[in-house]
Amino acid sequence: MESALTARDRVGVQDFVLLENHTSEAAFIENLRKRFKENLIYTYIGSVLVSVNPYKDLEIYTKNHMERYRGINFYEVSPHIYAVSDNSYRSMRTERKDQCILISGESGAGKTEASKKILQYYAVTCPASDQVETVKDRLLQSNPVLEAFGNAKTLRNDNSSRFGKYMDIQFDFKGAPVGGHILNYLLEKSRVVHQNHGERNFHIFYQLIEGGEEDLLRRLGLERNPQQYQYLVKGNCPKVSSINDRSDWKVVRKALSVIGFSEDEVEELLNIIASVLHLGNIQYGGEDSGNAYITTDTQIKYLARLLGVDGSVLKEALTHKKIIAKGEELKSPLNLEQASSARDALSKAVYGRTFTWLVNKINVSLAYKVTPHNASVIGLLDIYGFEVFQHNSFEQFCINYCNEKLQQLFIELTLKSEQDEYEAEGITWEPVQYFNNKIICDLVEEKFKGIISILDEECLRPGDASDITFLEKLENTVGGHAHLTTHKLTDGKTRKVMGREEFRLLHYAGEVNYNVNGFLDKNNDLLFRNLKEVMCMSDNKILTQCFDRAELKDSRRPETAATQFKTSLAKLMEILMSKEPSYVRCIKPNDAKQAGRFDEVLIRHQVKYLGLMENLRVRRAGFAYRRHYETFLQRYKSLCPETWPSWQGKLADGVSTLVKHLGYKPEEYKLGRSKIFIRFPKTLFATEDALETRKHSLGERESHVSHAVVVQAWWKGILACRRARRRREAANTIRRFIKGFIYRHNERCPENEYFLDYVRYSFLMKLRRNLPKTVLDKSWPTPPTALIEASERLRKLYMQNMVWGYCKRINPEWKHQLEQKMVASEIFKNKKDNYPQSVPKLFVGTRLNGEEINPKVLQSLGSEKMKYAVPVTKYDRKGYKARPRQLLLTSNSAVIVEEAKLKQRIDYAALKGISVSSLSDGVFVLHVPTEDKKQKGDVVLQSDHIIETLTKVAIFVALTQIITFTMGQGREGIIDFTSGSELLVAKAKNGHLSVTAPRLNSR
Ligand SMILES: Nc1ncnc2c1ncn2[C@@H]1O[C@H](COP(=O)(O)OP(=O)(O)OP(=O)(O)O)[C@@H](O)[C@H]1O
Ligand SMILES: [Mg+2]
Repeated sequence: MESALTARDRVGVQDFVLLENHTSEAAFIENLRKRFKENLIYTYIGSVLVSVNPYKDLEIYTKNHMERYRGINFYEVSPHIYAVSDNSYRSMRTERKDQCILISGESGAGKTEASKKILQYYAVTCPASDQVETVKDRLLQSNPVLEAFGNAKTLRNDNSSRFGKYMDIQFDFKGAPVGGHILNYLLEKSRVVHQNHGERNFHIFYQLIEGGEEDLLRRLGLERNPQQYQYLVKGNCPKVSSINDRSDWKVVRKALSVIGFSEDEVEELLNIIASVLHLGNIQYGGEDSGNAYITTDTQIKYLARLLGVDGSVLKEALTHKKIIAKGEELKSPLNLEQASSARDALSKAVYGRTFTWLVNKINVSLAYKVTPHNASVIGLLDIYGFEVFQHNSFEQFCINYCNEKLQQLFIELTLKSEQDEYEAEGITWEPVQYFNNKIICDLVEEKFKGIISILDEECLRPGDASDITFLEKLENTVGGHAHLTTHKLTDGKTRKVMGREEFRLLHYAGEVNYNVNGFLDKNNDLLFRNLKEVMCMSDNKILTQCFDRAELKDSRRPETAATQFKTSLAKLMEILMSKEPSYVRCIKPNDAKQAGRFDEVLIRHQVKYLGLMENLRVRRAGFAYRRHYETFLQRYKSLCPETWPSWQGKLADGVSTLVKHLGYKPEEYKLGRSKIFIRFPKTLFATEDALETRKHSLGERESHVSHAVVVQAWWKGILACRRARRRREAANTIRRFIKGFIYRHNERCPENEYFLDYVRYSFLMKLRRNLPKTVLDKSWPTPPTALIEASERLRKLYMQNMVWGYCKRINPEWKHQLEQKMVASEIFKNKKDNYPQSVPKLFVGTRLNGEEINPKVLQSLGSEKMKYAVPVTKYDRKGYKARPRQLLLTSNSAVIVEEAKLKQRIDYAALKGISVSSLSDGVFVLHVPTEDKKQKGDVVLQSDHIIETLTKVAIFVALTQIITFTMGQGREGIIDFTSGSELLVAKAKNGHLSVTAPRLNSR
């Protein structure tokens, strides 16, 4: 609740209790819708979890999520099935009270998925040991097996549970799961022989046919084609896109061995499954009224082998019935219809009993190996949801009756007990009006007068009882009941929507019409004696366990299906009542099994029949926590000097003194006759936290201590308390660190903020100690993910600063040097092999000074000043003879000199290009135009300082601003541009036109 208040998730409220308008159904549904749109499928009503099936995989069931919910207060984190799981687990551990989680909702709402999530949570988060690992595995693996044999594709759910399941998980005193036990309810056996259009038989049949190895299928006499089997073609739906029968088969086979099925047992089990398919393909011949005979002998051959029975005995039993009348056995032939139903009855009985055997076998494997002393239990109930079809039969009647009972339990345990308690405690209470469905439960189950009793009576009475006489009897006996009507009894309007063979029950969830056709047969569940006898004789060990000989000897009439169900439901209610319940209410968002679709009409209906509005109303009026004064005082008395070590006065006064000392505000609690009621969980949490701190200081001392010891203990207590606080703080810091580390890649959230801040701080400190010292030092500490961007900005800023400082310190010569180096780098970097070696060597102003050059040469240069000179070797154009020369660079031209002779002058304007190799040599070629008569052609030179020399050439060429133009008759004129202080255009001595232009913008 706290996290809801701090608006950690802003989409809707995460506890309906916080809804502004808590009585408005529209507001309730709007809240659900808002959250659903944001994939927030869970919402609380106090401690009840409402879950909307997302019909898509949400990333909310990872191990990280489990860890997040572990050991955390229910209200501190956003709602989740894991929070409910954890809450039950911790209540079991701390209060030593058995728990149960009741998962309800209609078909396809997500009950089974929820129960699996709970089981996975315990398997992952509970303490473990070697033996426990096996139990965990077996608990988890029991699901695929039970689903293969007990689930099927229906119109509403591709993996619909066609049986009810209650599973106990047993925990030892350390809280480790050590065993389990499953109770199964009312498998929908009729599905074995018939499926409605668009539905399938139980998954196992298709898994076996699709996934079974060739060898296995051959042994079982099966073909890899479900269309071949009468029991699989009724629904006309052999394949389902969301189901992969072949891979599921592998999962089931593995699960069977994990649970501890031997190879022989698996073989026998599959023999039975195959037999059911063969039974379905048995066909009869004969007239309608005459005796039936079997026309398909191959099936009998396979059946005899697979079931381990005599073929002819089986054949006989499938065409005759044997009954005992007045102690005498009577055998009579069956007609076509009777024989078919005998065959189907056998298939259903065989499959149904094998399913129960399977559950028992799993129970043996899950059984707690050591005496279950001190074991605590969490029960999970995943039972068929409320069902309403176009045609509803006996099965729906039982299922809806079961839901009616569960609703009653819910009412009893939460709504009613809440109100009763406030009343008993004398606490002011605004009564909440709710519909108590006990009246409907009574209508179904009451002795003598209830529907089940009437049905049984019709089943068991001699004479011509039929489904229709049952309907008539209903009309005569309970016809006046406010929650029942029939076609005959109802008004004209309702009659239009009811069949003549239907009765209508007004369930808490809505009206359902039941067609009585088949009620008697289904309730009787008759299997002829001779078929039972054949099964008892079977060589198949599973079957002989399923069909006990003792049953044959028992002359009493077997209990009817409805009565059996009623009895087992009553037992289940007893089990549930003895435990502390939590509720998960599942809601189906649409009928199309589609993600993202929120069908308001459908949802409103579910909100209504799950009684969620009533539940919310009660919660809003109620208190989160209540305890007897004695228990409360006993637990918290150490928190107040007046109540510690013992309180001598009245309990109520003690509690009052205690809570006042704790600073409870009047609106936070109420004192009843024998209990204190605390309205908000947070008040209690604060008290619990204070107790935790206090406990450390108290240790485990006896209560009868002398006053001196008390004083001493107090002092020790305070010291220990400080120590404990420090230790706890340290532990908290470490915990925060670990959690922060786990969530370090997430967005900033309460789990990781401490950690992220620390990482940032330590990075900045490290950076401060390790900043680069020079512009060339490119090292930089690696930043944490959260600081990558900031670190990059800091690095750039810091570099800019350093560069700026560096530039400021630089002198003109060094600047000139660097400019040249820049030019060199642009020309040669990654292009010439000896460039890297040239980088550390400084470029010099000139390699030959005035004295080393012949004065005549300098003279003939005239006004052109020599800017750079270097000794080079020239290679003759013909013969490549090497000759020592000097290369002089002026601002306008490159001049090749041999001692006093000026051998060749190449104007930069005329220079067509320079070629060098990419290797480490010093050879270069100056290209000149061939048509120029004054030039002798390209020059091949070699310099020991080639990078420096050519960089200089490049710089001078770039600085020279020369334009050549044609003067007519093939002659060329040249204009030299230079910058100067003022504009001047005049003929120069070298015969060029010289232009001096003032610089306007400083560069
Ligand atoms: N939490 C969930 N996340 C994703 N998908 C889910 C979730 N819950 C249910 N589903 C989807 O809905 C389907 C039906 O759910 P489930 O089998 O649990 O329904 P159910 O209430 O047990 O129905 P039935 O009463 O028919 O057995 C699942 O097969 C799955 O595809
Ligand atoms: Mg289910």
